[in-house]
Amino acid sequence: MTILSADEALSGLSTRTEYEAALQRLREASRAYYGEGDSALDDTAYDRLRLAVLAWEAANPAEVPADSPTGLVGDGAAPAGDVAHTTRLLSLDNVFDAEGLVAWGASVQRRLGAVPAGGFTVEPKIDGAAVAARYRDGRLVQVITRGDGSHGEDVSHVIGQIDGLPEQLAEPVTVEVRGEVAFTQEQFETANEVRTAHGAQVFANPRNGTAGTLRAKDRPYRLRMTFWAYGAVELDVEPDVEPDGESFLPAGATHAQVLAAVAAAGVQTTAACPAGLHVVTDLAEAQQRIDAIAAGRAELPVGIDGVVVKLNDTAEQEAAGSGTRFPYWAVAVKLPAVERQTVLEDVVWEVGRTGVIAPTAVLAPVEIDGSTVTRATLHNPADIRRRDLHLGDTVTVYKAGDIIPRVQAAVVRLRPAGATPVPLPEACPRCGGGIDKAQERWRCAQGTSCALPALIEYASGREMLDIDGLGRTYVAALVDSGAVGDIADLFTLTVDQLTAASGSAKRAAKLAEQITAARSRPLSRVFCALGVLGTGRSMSRRIARHFGTMDAIREADAAAMQDVEGIGPEKAPVVVEQVAALASVIDKLIAAGVNMAEPGDPSVARGGGPLEGKVVVVTGKMAGPLDGLGRSEMNALIEKAGGRAGSSVNSKTSILVAAPSASGKPSSKAVKAAELGVEVLTPEAFAELVAGWPA
Ligand code: IVH
Repeated sequence: MTILSADEALSGLSTRTEYEAALQRLREASRAYYGEGDSALDDTAYDRLRLAVLAWEAANPAEVPADSPTGLVGDGAAPAGDVAHTTRLLSLDNVFDAEGLVAWGASVQRRLGAVPAGGFTVEPKIDGAAVAARYRDGRLVQVITRGDGSHGEDVSHVIGQIDGLPEQLAEPVTVEVRGEVAFTQEQFETANEVRTAHGAQVFANPRNGTAGTLRAKDRPYRLRMTFWAYGAVELDVEPDVEPDGESFLPAGATHAQVLAAVAAAGVQTTAACPAGLHVVTDLAEAQQRIDAIAAGRAELPVGIDGVVVKLNDTAEQEAAGSGTRFPYWAVAVKLPAVERQTVLEDVVWEVGRTGVIAPTAVLAPVEIDGSTVTRATLHNPADIRRRDLHLGDTVTVYKAGDIIPRVQAAVVRLRPAGATPVPLPEACPRCGGGIDKAQERWRCAQGTSCALPALIEYASGREMLDIDGLGRTYVAALVDSGAVGDIADLFTLTVDQLTAASGSAKRAAKLAEQITAARSRPLSRVFCALGVLGTGRSMSRRIARHFGTMDAIREADAAAMQDVEGIGPEKAPVVVEQVAALASVIDKLIAAGVNMAEPGDPSVARGGGPLEGKVVVVTGKMAGPLDGLGRSEMNALIEKAGGRAGSSVNSKTSILVAAPSASGKPSSKAVKAAELGVEVLTPEAFAELVAGWPA
């Protein structure tokens, strides 16, 4: 059998064999989608493969088999049961962007022969499992899965387990409500806790968890889920027979009115989701609502994978009609997946400021929600064991909005042979000392003092606070005596404390002088001294120049942080989070009179300069006017002139400043630069280029 990845398929299916292989993968993946979730394809890869199959089918209509999954509800893989649906439970056609929505609008207009007069509704597409819930005389009597659209499975055993789908309505109403059952984020966390307590695998994601939970009859535990109705149909009404008495769903009611009646009867609808149900007059307005829902997606209590746009007027819905798989009067505008599958390549352990030893997953790069993810949070060792993660596992990774990505679960079926469980550290990865394992979050047995001496020494270094004379020995003495618990404590040390640490009153006086001078270092150095992960000297300078004051840095959210050159969507929330975690240290620094501003007008420092927009790499020992300048001073010079310092020569490099070597042989960086056609300057030529640029 030809094995085809989704990405390969996207570049086009050229032969019938490739098409058949793609069909096979689609069938397998959609079976997993409705089953236990061990699919080799995530939603994005699945959608790509499906589009490639559709493209081939459009080009070769005569060769499409009758049972192609693309022509069936749920791609033909949902387990069909034996309960006949009142009317077919259809799926939705997908579009992926604003143009797709406009094209859908044009097709509706063609079908109606006019612009829709009744407007549209816009509502969230809840990422769960579709069910039909039958109420007779106000009592919930049956819950049925979608199945193949015409027959579903009876899952009435879940009655009483679903929020928003009450067993009893206030009025004796007879109706079938249709909607989506899903785990809210909170219910999902609880469900996984309950499952691990029972020795069961955590769910790969909320949707798979929902599908499995709906169908599981014999679990020793019950998991709560939530329902959102998105439609309703008459129940027990003979076709073409006028019902006696007033119908629950009055003829001519709009979609929004139907959902309002359902809500009034006590069943939760999509309108109750914070994303809301909106009635709009045209598709431009619909697109604005879609954008707003997408922007607020991370804050929603439940996962959504799109936004559904429908004709509001039910008469117009009828006129537009339905196909075998989906209605023509509604469309799903898919949002980028917030969950993808990738390979867990490694786990690294970092010791935080408080001594917590935290694992981070190193992942094969994967695009999630518009950014490339290479690292994700793993909570703690116990969690790694509970999730039974192995190195080399294919894992589901979840990321929404600015939230730092997290590893959700391993796709066990795809585990490579011989894979070993993620090893846990036996000693503190920073100091090599013992680990306190009393709690789920492991800590270095030395707690804060594990990281502290190294941080204080780093902070007092020449490039940061520049406290001359405060070397490793005195720092160790200050930390051991408890006089220094963070960098801010340096500024409130008494002469007595300094004398005790340095062993001499004279040395103490000198140190006190240095500390006083350190109060007026520029913000870039003070910020760097905080030791925020991923913000070394160059990055701290960029942050300080961009924001100008510590207040502005503290006010920045992840979006604002991304405006700093070199800070991408992966790094921004981490920096913001760490700055927030350092609030008390920063407050203490302010109280101690430490400077919190960057000299000069940040807007001037940001723009202009002969190196504006250029990435400059430096190699070799500087000579001529730059004689004696170290790497960090060179970097500062580059940034002052508007450029950005790089460390290796690559396609982004604009200039290489290369001092000729004593042997006369070009350095490896110079060779690379020549290969890539990067401009190479001598230190003298570079000095001339930046000469006169204000310091
Ligand atoms: S309307 C005939 N509205 O998405 C109308 N569906 O991928 C069909 N879904 O099968 C459904 N939220 O299970 C509709 N607000 C919403 C929805 C929604 C989730 C599900 C539904 C459908 C699937 C299609």
